[in-house]
Amino acid sequence: MRFVVANWKMNFLSGQARDFCEAFLAGYSPSPSVTAAVAPPFHLIRPVADSLRSRQVRVFGQNGHAEPNGAYTGEISMAQLQDVGCSGVILGHSERRQLFGETDDALVAKVKAARDWNLLPLLCVGETLEERQQGRTLEVLDRQLSILARTGPTPLWVAYEPVWAIGTGLRAEVGQIREAHAFIKSRIVTLMSLNFGPVPILYGGSITPENFPELLDIPEVAGGLVGGASLDPAKFATLVKQAG
Ligand code: G3P
Repeated sequence: MRFVVANWKMNFLSGQARDFCEAFLAGYSPSPSVTAAVAPPFHLIRPVADSLRSRQVRVFGQNGHAEPNGAYTGEISMAQLQDVGCSGVILGHSERRQLFGETDDALVAKVKAARDWNLLPLLCVGETLEERQQGRTLEVLDRQLSILARTGPTPLWVAYEPVWAIGTGLRAEVGQIREAHAFIKSRIVTLMSLNFGPVPILYGGSITPENFPELLDIPEVAGGLVGGASLDPAKFATLVKQAG
């Protein structure tokens, strides 16, 4: 099974979301070998969830608060994500870490809360260009993954997203991806019991229909977490077909 997840980030208004779903689903046929998922902005989840889920496309949140409710202005809880039809949630995206100060400690609580509300966590890890240039990539990945020693066993997907490859058009090289994915796989086996089965490790960072097939040939890559290319229904449909 491979996995292709669209991270729409802070894009689309209602009409654009409807147009995307209409165009994407027009040519989409569920495949037993690939799972597609879409992570809309929160306000667009309910309008698109039924049409996507009716065609076996999963709906994910882009983030979630660890508390089920309370005085957290502007936040969305895991309970609310589940309530509008999500079956998973992206956690620890580098934009949340860098722009909104999300910490590994906060992610421990978020992973636990996602599990409590039957949401599959898609945990993002990845180094900055400076960290890579300093030779600290594996050290950073190890630190980010170490939260799994504190979350307890949980169903999980992981996305390796080198920060310097996000939105830059600079997809990571095959050798860099193989090294990171192999390390992530080894740490996951050490850090948590795999009683929920193997943990798929997706790649994210400037994926396009032109460079995705090479990625899919890498044994350690279980699929992709896609930003920019996922805003185009034809491109996203192509990526899903390529993974099938
Ligand atoms: O979460 C996926 C995203 O960060 C990758 O963005 O635009 O480089 O595909 P992009």
